[in-house]
Amino acid sequence: MLAGQAGPGAQKAMEIVVALGQIYGARDLTPVSSVQVAGVSYKNLGGAGLEFLEEWAVQGARARVPATLNPAGLDLESWRELGFSEAFARSQQRVIAAYEALGVAPICTCTPYLVGYVPKFGQHLAWAESSAVSYANSLLGARTNREGGPSALAAAISGRTARYGLHLDENRLATARVDVQVDIKSEADLGALGYQVGRLVKNRVPYFRFRQPPSRDWEWKALGAAMAASGAVALFHVEGVTPEAQEGDMLAAGASALLVDSLQEGYRALNGPVKQIDLVSLGCPHASLNEVQAVADYLEGKRARSALWITTARATRQAAQAAGLVARIEAAGGRVVADTCLVVAPVHELGFRTMATNSAKMAAYAPAHSGLTVRFGSMSQCLDAALAGRWTVRTEGRD
Ligand code: F3S
Repeated sequence: MLAGQAGPGAQKAMEIVVALGQIYGARDLTPVSSVQVAGVSYKNLGGAGLEFLEEWAVQGARARVPATLNPAGLDLESWRELGFSEAFARSQQRVIAAYEALGVAPICTCTPYLVGYVPKFGQHLAWAESSAVSYANSLLGARTNREGGPSALAAAISGRTARYGLHLDENRLATARVDVQVDIKSEADLGALGYQVGRLVKNRVPYFRFRQPPSRDWEWKALGAAMAASGAVALFHVEGVTPEAQEGDMLAAGASALLVDSLQEGYRALNGPVKQIDLVSLGCPHASLNEVQAVADYLEGKRARSALWITTARATRQAAQAAGLVARIEAAGGRVVADTCLVVAPVHELGFRTMATNSAKMAAYAPAHSGLTVRFGSMSQCLDAALAGRWTVRTEGRD
């Protein structure tokens, strides 16, 4: 491939993979079982990024392994009724078409592991979306570094990635032990915890010990997403929960120790000075079917005053629709939005200025990425804000 015998598209991909391997001192390359590609929203790619993709496709490049896309800048089916502009939609559709030509499945989600793309323990991957990287490494025991958009695409086209970082056993040991001495009552608590810990451990591997580990499926993705947003954590272990921690001792000799006995710092950092709420955003990372069900149940017989978006994968939305959940949420004034999220969509153009969210990652990114002032709290606090049109929690923090 490097010599060009598989065509110029594959040659370019292999040049990128080899160059990264040289930069990071990799001994060799490893085949990858799947790839997850970020850099999909036209808001971030722009015209130059789109041309880069189209040119690569024209060179005959095609993914050799299963590859999927991260969220796009809009709901690919309902963009018009949600208020996205025709011009943005056309550009976004060209991006999707270019990725399809490159052989990447346009499932447009940051939770491929919830919609059938579930890596197996020990498999090597090249995934790009930081929250998905964290989930695949930590909860599933697969092995991936946090790839950039072009490097993930190069791995898809070459079928390989450089073997360094989290592909190697020795780098998967935890170097920071975190004893959590507070009771975790919601996904927002885990987000606040992740935000605090990520800031402290940066790119190290934390090993959590909880008094009572959370059990709902969406809480773990909230923790990983938050640590990836405030630090660069791509792998964490939880005693008695995550697969590698169950198999053996994952604490490195000389690991540092950290004690968390309050979440106030995280809640304080993630809450902006705003009462009026234009938009409530749930589903970052993309909502599971259980989350959609929980929202539908909470809203039963009620009516939202603010906009309310639950972002999810299209396949999850279809399952929610079949179960009658989409209709129930729409009856309460909410929307179940597929293919996108409020960080990669051009939200400001839609007229929203303030947001409430139960995602620490969304609360950390939305001010800079989308120009929003944000309130952060649990799903029930956010849904109460949607019903009242304003933030109703007196003291910042927990239920
Ligand atoms: Fe996913 Fe967007 Fe959040 S890509 S993790 S929903 S910021």
